[in-house]
Amino acid sequence: MTVAVTTTPLSQALRDETSRAHADAEGSDFMTRLMAGELSARAVAALTGQLWFVYEALERAVRAVAETPIAGAVADPRLERRDALELDLAEMLGAHWRDEVRILPATARYVARLESLDSPGAAPEIVAHHYVRYLGDVSGGQVIAARLGALYGVDPDALNFYDFTAIGKIPPYRTAYREALDGLVLSDVQRAGLIAEAQEAFAFNSGVFAELSARFPAGGMS
Ligand code: HEM
Repeated sequence: MTVAVTTTPLSQALRDETSRAHADAEGSDFMTRLMAGELSARAVAALTGQLWFVYEALERAVRAVAETPIAGAVADPRLERRDALELDLAEMLGAHWRDEVRILPATARYVARLESLDSPGAAPEIVAHHYVRYLGDVSGGQVIAARLGALYGVDPDALNFYDFTAIGKIPPYRTAYREALDGLVLSDVQRAGLIAEAQEAFAFNSGVFAELSARFPAGGMS
């Protein structure tokens, strides 16, 4: 008798096991008010500034392990957002944007975590962070960009962050990304570590949203 061992494909497990964390991030006070038109272009700029710190660290972490089989499966320079964020910040805040953008404590904790993943052995955890940000950006990010333009009059020149035309059509890219995840050869420990880190990555994002929300209180000067 043969026993069929079935393991949920990693892309499915990741989606399932982060769906609650996704709902928390999407339903966070900051994101809810942002998407309801209750915030402002200043709040959009504040979010963009925090994302600049995150992507700067994320992209350094990914580049450092991009030659490993695990991270190499998803690493793609066309996804990189740092330059796009710099263009957007210059458009939103002017040429001296660096003087205006200050890292929040929650963002600093997120960045410290990314910086701690500094060995090839951390490739599974880096893939987790890659998945949470980039697959989110190419998925829900398109809806978010359209809303920011419509609600706050943010110029398309300040929304390069959400522009993924470089990767071609999004649905096939997402399918290929999921297939790349499913093709990863991981030990049980690596797989569990990757999924746990994806949950952590969502929590770091929610932490940033909570601090942004406090900076732009409801009913206050947003
Ligand atoms: C207002 C906020 C948000 C909206 C409206 C939104 C919306 C969406 C939508 C429509 C999808 C596509 C679902 C599908 O086609 O299967 C998606 C997927 C995703 N989102 Fe979000 N999202 C939001 C916030 C976030 C945040 C803050 C993150 C992470 C920091 C995130 C990460 C992801 C990821 C990783 C996926 C891919 C899930 C998968 O297929 O494995 N999202 N989101």
